[in-house]
Amino acid sequence: MSTYSDQSAVTVLGLGPMGRALAGAFLDAGLRTTVWNRTPGRDRELVARGAVGAGSAEEAVAASDLVVVCVVNYDAADSVLRRDAVTGALKGRTVVNLTADTPDRARDTASWAAAHGVRYLDGAIMTPTTTIGTPHAVFIHSGPEDLYQEHRPALAALGGTHTHLGEEIGRAAAYDIALLDIFWTSMAGYAHALAVAQAEGVTPRELAPFAQGIAAILPPIFGETAENVEAGVFPGDGNPITSAASTMAHIIHASEAHGIDASVMRATEGLARRVIGLGHGADDFSRVTDLLSRR
Ligand SMILES: NC(=O)c1ccc[n+]([C@@H]2O[C@H](COP(=O)([O-])OP(=O)(O)OC[C@H]3O[C@@H](n4cnc5c(N)ncnc54)[C@H](OP(=O)(O)O)[C@@H]3O)[C@@H](O)[C@H]2O)c1
Repeated sequence: MSTYSDQSAVTVLGLGPMGRALAGAFLDAGLRTTVWNRTPGRDRELVARGAVGAGSAEEAVAASDLVVVCVVNYDAADSVLRRDAVTGALKGRTVVNLTADTPDRARDTASWAAAHGVRYLDGAIMTPTTTIGTPHAVFIHSGPEDLYQEHRPALAALGGTHTHLGEEIGRAAAYDIALLDIFWTSMAGYAHALAVAQAEGVTPRELAPFAQGIAAILPPIFGETAENVEAGVFPGDGNPITSAASTMAHIIHASEAHGIDASVMRATEGLARRVIGLGHGADDFSRVTDLLSRR
């Protein structure tokens, strides 16, 4: 095992859609790229493009100082990394785990890595496979700053923006779950909105440009809400939560009149009603964060 970090070689473990995109970007950037996947055959196209297809995870790990892991979750990552042969081969090398999971799983993996002489960075990918290798990709990382800087040149081959969020290893996963919370609740709202609109004879294509208009008002609202939540003030003069709850009730009634499940909106209205019940009806919707933060 070399004592210096070889920046010209990388191993990718996990060749789902994202792992294949990562390996493809490393290849395009000219890195010697070794790949492995639990189910054989997923490396075919990458090997045709010049990747080395390893016969086992330990063989793949032994090929590079830098090992990028991208599988479905940390149970899957553990089942690959925490086998004696693989753990032994990883000693002294760097794992960059771009698998999504919880902050606690990232911390647990970091403890395991430290106990086995594996250098460890955690990370998350915030954009779809099509962005990888382009300026539109967004990566977040956490873990030892010096280790991140050491591998920054190789990671740059993935394109886009890379942000090191700090040394606390769970930080990238913390951002990831918070950002995916926004994404999936937004998508749940959009999926529901399309169903209600269709039931009223409005086609998805007709609604889409207006939906994009609604999404466009959110960035400044996100900024203001963050300021207010940090300051502990919830000014509802423009749109008190009593008015917002009334709008939510209209959505629920219209939806259920068509037999469409309104449970996502019912949950949102329920939060608003709890805020009102606590005597904060004149505040704006961001008071919900205060409610949820009470343990
Ligand atoms: N796709 C995206 O647009 C996107 C965007 C951002 C982040 N991500 C994240 O990137 C990661 C990978 O996503 P993905 O799109 O490639 O698809 P995925 O379906 O989340 O993961 C598929 C990969 O996980 C492997 N895997 C599953 N169970 C396993 C196990 N028990 N042992 C070993 N390997 C196992 C699969 O191997 P087999 O082929 O053997 O099943 C395959 O390589 C996920 O954490 C995902 O959240 C994806």
